[in-house]
Amino acid sequence: MQIKKKKLSGYDTNKTYYWSPSANWKVNGDELTVNENKYTKVASVFPELYFKAQDGATPAELMEELASVNSVELEEFIQDLVRNRVLVPAILTPEEIFKAQSKLFKSEYNEEMFLNPSEVEKFKKSMLNRENNAMAGKAIELKQKEEYPELISRRRSYRLFDTSEKLSFEVFSQIVSVFRQLRSEDEIKYYYASAGGLYPIDIYLYVKDNRVENIPGGLYYYSPVSNSIALASTSCVVTDEAHFFTNKDIYNTSAFSVFFIYNAEVSMPKYAGMAYYYACIDAGIMVGALTSAAELCNIGLCSIGNMNFDKIKKYFKLNEAQVLIHTVEVGLKSENGRALRTE
Ligand SMILES: Cc1cc2nc3c(=O)[nH]c(=O)nc-3n(C[C@H](O)[C@H](O)[C@H](O)COP(=O)(O)O)c2cc1C
Repeated sequence: MQIKKKKLSGYDTNKTYYWSPSANWKVNGDELTVNENKYTKVASVFPELYFKAQDGATPAELMEELASVNSVELEEFIQDLVRNRVLVPAILTPEEIFKAQSKLFKSEYNEEMFLNPSEVEKFKKSMLNRENNAMAGKAIELKQKEEYPELISRRRSYRLFDTSEKLSFEVFSQIVSVFRQLRSEDEIKYYYASAGGLYPIDIYLYVKDNRVENIPGGLYYYSPVSNSIALASTSCVVTDEAHFFTNKDIYNTSAFSVFFIYNAEVSMPKYAGMAYYYACIDAGIMVGALTSAAELCNIGLCSIGNMNFDKIKKYFKLNEAQVLIHTVEVGLKSENGRALRTE
């Protein structure tokens, strides 16, 4: 059995854990495989452990009810499942939920193809020229009489920002205020839509040192209620280690980062599992609002699809119902900043 003997923080023998809906297992003779990890000596507890954990069980209950295996080995195995996010105490991250979908999709392309820039370009071109098979009859051409205002028409992603000047406090405030609440006597409104008007996305901002006027560098929680920011951590230092290679320049030159964190406590009581899906849509709508606000101030931004959030997660002090959905880097537009595309 391959177990790392590291003390597991947060592991509690009396806490209820669930078998992750995206984890697979199979038994072949004495060998058990869980996701990519192989184990011997504990194969005999399957499928019982799986059935029990599907409905939720504490490690103490599992140990008691699956007593046929050496208890030290069984506990180490359970700890390993917790460490590898096979047994989970709360909601999954988007990556954990969605990665399993690739098994169900039959791709005609192999993964290596996407390492070759000219092949990627060819692929992209063919996808951007696709037509729908369901088209029946002659197409009716639409007429766009007027060009949209620049706020819409000149938008592009920026991947390199100007760091020679600071973003003014005024512009920073103006942009971030797009997420504020607007309170009147009988109503609380926002500038953007959210499923059920619940607004379950918490916003954290990481401001770089000396990049925003009057705001010391640090990780802040943004309160839409009072339209203010307060330090979430006094010791948080995010480095480009938290970002994939192709996104490092974006991160290193931006003035601040916006983290969109789904707080399931706000909307799962009402919408159950679908609340998570609505939250992903809410986050997209929020990025749209942020993009317009930034564009109005002539400020650039770039969405970051995925990052090594685990490297900085501790500073956010999230509870188990909070997960990162999306990140956006914001900064002063630089002349050649939008030409760069390194994905
Ligand atoms: C969900 C999402 C994730 C993205 N992730 C990245 C990213 O990780 N790195 C990057 O350079 N651009 C990223 N982008 C930006 C897209 O690559 C970009 O929007 C697209 O190439 C079109 O270019 P444009 O925005 O300049 O029109 C992302 C955009 C979205 C909406």
